[in-house]
Amino acid sequence: LIAKYIKDHCGIEIPQEKSYLIENRLSRLLSDFNLSGFEELYARIAGHRDKDIEEKVIDAITTNETFWFRDQSPWDILENKLLPGYIDEIRKGKRTKVRIWSAACSTGQEPYSTAMCIDNYLTMKGIHDIDSSKFEILATDISNNVLKTARAGQYDNISVMRGLDESYRQKYFTYSGGFWKLSDGIVSAVRFQQFNLLNSALLLGKFDIVFCRYVLIYFSEGLKRNILEKIHTVLEDGGVLFIGNSELMAESHHLFQKVKEDSNIYYIKR
Ligand SMILES: C[S@@+](CC[C@H](N)C(=O)[O-])C[C@H]1O[C@@H](n2cnc3c(N)ncnc32)[C@H](O)[C@@H]1O
Repeated sequence: LIAKYIKDHCGIEIPQEKSYLIENRLSRLLSDFNLSGFEELYARIAGHRDKDIEEKVIDAITTNETFWFRDQSPWDILENKLLPGYIDEIRKGKRTKVRIWSAACSTGQEPYSTAMCIDNYLTMKGIHDIDSSKFEILATDISNNVLKTARAGQYDNISVMRGLDESYRQKYFTYSGGFWKLSDGIVSAVRFQQFNLLNSALLLGKFDIVFCRYVLIYFSEGLKRNILEKIHTVLEDGGVLFIGNSELMAESHHLFQKVKEDSNIYYIKR
């Protein structure tokens, strides 16, 4: 019953043989909320009267593993392929802005990597006529807990080291009180919002780039298809989708065309 609740509520599939995950990840909640057992936990979440406990279940069951510039390839494509094109279009008056959606952003490393990549590109290329405000980055996740960390924009020694180049750390972070704090410019370049991928994405508007990485792997094939359809709908014509490097999408997918540049892969809306 708890597995079904989780699947219905956030799409994550926990097969029978992995039911130990529920026990491992949720048993702490029994003592935190002073519950007699999993039956009582189920009764509390299924009644939908206790939002706090429902949020804690989602926080405990979601895998929030993330790091800076994960896989590197989306940011190589952004820098070498997409940004020069967007900047050219802005200069020619063919577009006014670029909208980017990080659809399961966890603690913020993915959208902040994007914001740093854009800012770094503009400064390194000496581009002064276009600033970062032309790039709107929306970052969403189902878990309020990870969004709290993301909004704070400060990271401990271990998380700041994971995937982050020394040069980026020096340029965009300051160390204070045991934490690495991202610069205000980068923090304010990203807007965070709670959003469940099971819901309609239409109100979020249209996007030129969507990052939907390392989240579809937790969903059933049917749900994965359904979410890819939603992403297709909110992508502008010719818009780009990044999924995780180890995630698979059929070569001849009817919604997206797979593009391979060296060892980098991305998908364009058909
Ligand atoms: C493994 S992290 C991936 C983070 C980042 N995209 C990356 O590649 O490093 C997966 C994230 O998906 C979020 N998530 C799980 N189910 C979701 C849903 N139904 N809607 C939105 N986010 C969800 C989790 O809370 C978690 O933060």
